[in-house]
Amino acid sequence: MPNFNDLNLDNWKESEIWTDSLWIIQERDKTGKHSNFYHGNFVPQIPHQLISRYTKKNEVVFDPFVGSGTTAYEAETLGRHFIGVDIQKDLVEQLKSKVDNEKYFSEIISGDSSKSATFDEINEVLKKRKRENVSLAILHPPYADIVKFSDLKDDLSNAKSLKEFLSGFALVLKNTISILENGRYLAIVIGDKYTAGQWIPLGFYCMNEAQKLGLTLKSIIIKNMEGNRAKQNKEGIWRYRALSSDYYIFKHEYILIFKK
Ligand SMILES: C[S@@+](CC[C@H](N)C(=O)[O-])C[C@H]1O[C@@H](n2cnc3c(N)ncnc32)[C@H](O)[C@@H]1O
Repeated sequence: MPNFNDLNLDNWKESEIWTDSLWIIQERDKTGKHSNFYHGNFVPQIPHQLISRYTKKNEVVFDPFVGSGTTAYEAETLGRHFIGVDIQKDLVEQLKSKVDNEKYFSEIISGDSSKSATFDEINEVLKKRKRENVSLAILHPPYADIVKFSDLKDDLSNAKSLKEFLSGFALVLKNTISILENGRYLAIVIGDKYTAGQWIPLGFYCMNEAQKLGLTLKSIIIKNMEGNRAKQNKEGIWRYRALSSDYYIFKHEYILIFKK
C-alpha cells in the first residue's frame, strides 16, 4: 500500500483516481469556490487528482504559481494545508480574503518564486506552523509568453527569451525542491508554443530542467485542451489555417510527475 496517500485499496474498483496517462476532461469543475475568472487558470480536476493521489490529509501542498487559487481551494476541500505564492500582489490579496484558514491553514504569499528571499519567508511560515517541509508541489508556470500575466519584470511570462524563461523556471524548481519532503512528488503542468513557424516544446524543456536537478520522472500525462479561451468559437479558422499550412493545432498540454 502506498504510504503517501489515503486511498483505501479495499475497494479499489470504485476509486475516482485516474491512472491512465491520457486525461480527457470535458468540462471544468465549477463547484465550490472555483469561479473561472482568471485567464490562464487550470481546471480544478488537475489539483484534485494530484492532491488525492499524492498526499494524505493534514499534509501540506505547495504551489509557487498560485494565480487565482485553484490549488488552494482543492487543498481546502480535500483537508490539506496549503502554501501558495504569486508575483501579483492584488491577486494574492484577493485570494487571501477567500481562503478558509480554520481547520487547515492556507498561507498565500506575494513574491517571486525564483528568489531565495521568498523561500526564506516560506521557511518562516513552515516553522510557525511546526512543519519541516511540504508533501506535494504543483507548478503551473506561465507557458512562456503565451499569456502575459502582468507587467512585472520578474513575471516569467515577461522573460525576454526561451533561455531566460527556462533559467527562471529552473530557479523556481530548485527552490521548490529545497522545501519538498524526500521521496515525495512534484508535478509540472505546462503546454507547448509556436513561434516563428516552429513548435517550441516547452513541456520537454521544462521536463529536462527538472531532470537536471535530480528529480525522477514518473509519468508524462497528456491532457486535452478543448476549452482554450483564445481558440473558443474559432475552430473553423484554426482548421482552415492548419489545412492551408503544414502544422497541427495544439489540443494537448502536459502534466509531468516527478519524485524527489
Ligand atoms: C499559469 S498561471 C497559474 C494559474 C493557476 N494554476 C490558477 O489556476 O489560477 C501562472 C501564474 O504565475 C504567476 N507568476 C509568474 N511569474 C512568477 C514568479 N516569478 N513568481 C511567482 N509567480 C509568478 C503569474 O502571476 C500567474 O498568476
